[in-house]
Amino acid sequence: MQIQAVETTQLDWTGDALAVGLFEGETDLVGDLAALNEKLDGTIAELIEDYEFTGKSGAVAVTRVGSKSPIRKIILVGLGDSTTITLDTLRTSAATIARTAKQEKVKTLGISLPAVEKADLSAQVMTEGLHLALHQDTRFKSDADEQAAKLETVHLLALGDQPSAIQKAETIVSGVILARELVSAPANEVTPITLAETAQKLASDYGLDLEILEQEDCEKLGMGAYLGVAKASDLPPKFIHLTYKPQGTPRRKLAIVGKGLTFDSGGLNLKPSGSGIETMKMDMGGAGATFGAAKAIAQLKPDVEVHFISAATENMISGHAMHPGDILKASNGKTIEVNNTDAEGRLTLADALVFTEKLEVDAMVDLATLTGACVVALGEEIGGMWSSDDGLAQEFQTASNLAGEKLWQMPLEEKYFEGLKSPIADMKNTGPRAGGSITAALFLKQFIEKTPWVHLDIAGTAWIDKDSGVNSAGATGFPVRTLVNWVLS
Ligand code: BES
Ligand code: MN
Ligand code: ZN
Repeated sequence: MQIQAVETTQLDWTGDALAVGLFEGETDLVGDLAALNEKLDGTIAELIEDYEFTGKSGAVAVTRVGSKSPIRKIILVGLGDSTTITLDTLRTSAATIARTAKQEKVKTLGISLPAVEKADLSAQVMTEGLHLALHQDTRFKSDADEQAAKLETVHLLALGDQPSAIQKAETIVSGVILARELVSAPANEVTPITLAETAQKLASDYGLDLEILEQEDCEKLGMGAYLGVAKASDLPPKFIHLTYKPQGTPRRKLAIVGKGLTFDSGGLNLKPSGSGIETMKMDMGGAGATFGAAKAIAQLKPDVEVHFISAATENMISGHAMHPGDILKASNGKTIEVNNTDAEGRLTLADALVFTEKLEVDAMVDLATLTGACVVALGEEIGGMWSSDDGLAQEFQTASNLAGEKLWQMPLEEKYFEGLKSPIADMKNTGPRAGGSITAALFLKQFIEKTPWVHLDIAGTAWIDKDSGVNSAGATGFPVRTLVNWVLS
């Protein structure tokens, strides 16, 4: 699909289908729209009446235009209240239009939506919405329909030529799709070994530095927490470290650390049936987003050095498995009583965070499908954010707003660390059920000394059960767009 922003307006455009955005309560046709309606023999007015179309956000109406018309179909999409329009309204409206156009077997599509902020940003977010909504993962289907009619050309009307904004959007989308495909692939396809191979491919395709620490290397560094989790797996752990280095002196040094559990069975605290064990291939959602961000950032080439890290392994059961109650020692010397082997993500992250801090970056973020408690608190559309640094939290809030990926800041309530106190070791890995996503964040904090840090719990947002906005049911690639915006900011 080729996307182009053009000077042409809705009045002059010709092609298969023209999509027009309408604000809620503004369906009286005036100005350009009245002229278009006239040109189309009153089709728009009829469509509004037939569908009782009010412009409600997300509403869609489609009809065939008379056969003499230079446009075959008209698609109306509701934009909601005109005073609350944001860039994300454009992104999700473009996604709605893309799905409708596909259903209607449209080949050439014109989109007329009001510009929000600057024309280049408008073109960027619409391009993101179009590609993300149409992305379909057919890797595991033997009868994928390659012959199905495809949307071939899209014109974003009245924005002027915007080649670099569209290129930037397509680069970001390539990162989101890599993340989605890594997360969607089952645990017999994406393993610690294949994740390391993916990192190797990114390194050679885009000129990144790659360091892989094997089990012995991790042993030498004293990564007892990470290796404790890896013990029961028949697959070797792979500690993956990709680096993007700009030419010249970097303006900033940053690190992104992703939880990389290619499967989480729970370990000997085995996940019972009904707990969603069959979805735990997604437990490398943090690593998926980390590598997705690496793919986009390596192509966008900002003047910032960025480290991409994941301590990849599986949480399995076997005679080698760590026992509930085992005491592990992390690479900063702290000891952990494992009172629940299913709180494994924080154990792998503990050593990954200690490793990352030694790189002396200016700021670091970890992303993890860390707790069911975060899903209960914030649902599937909002990620949890904890931070030791208000300025950094603000940077993330701005980046996430622009990305249309919602984050909600949660408290790092020190008092709750009492729930992690152990009579025998420095801490337990699991606190009480109440406030479970907060004690998880407090646990991670024990492995960082001074580097400004943000923790994102993406357990709810990495996977979605129903189509929503730019996401189709399945892996979302959350929060690749936010990470890219943060690094570029
Ligand atoms: N990977 C899970 C968290 C999770 C839950 C991710 C739902 C995606 C969807 C994590 O390793 C886990 O098992 N967490 C436990 C922690 C508990 C034992 C303290 C949980 O949330 O139940
Ligand atoms: Mn677990
Ligand atoms: Zn897990």
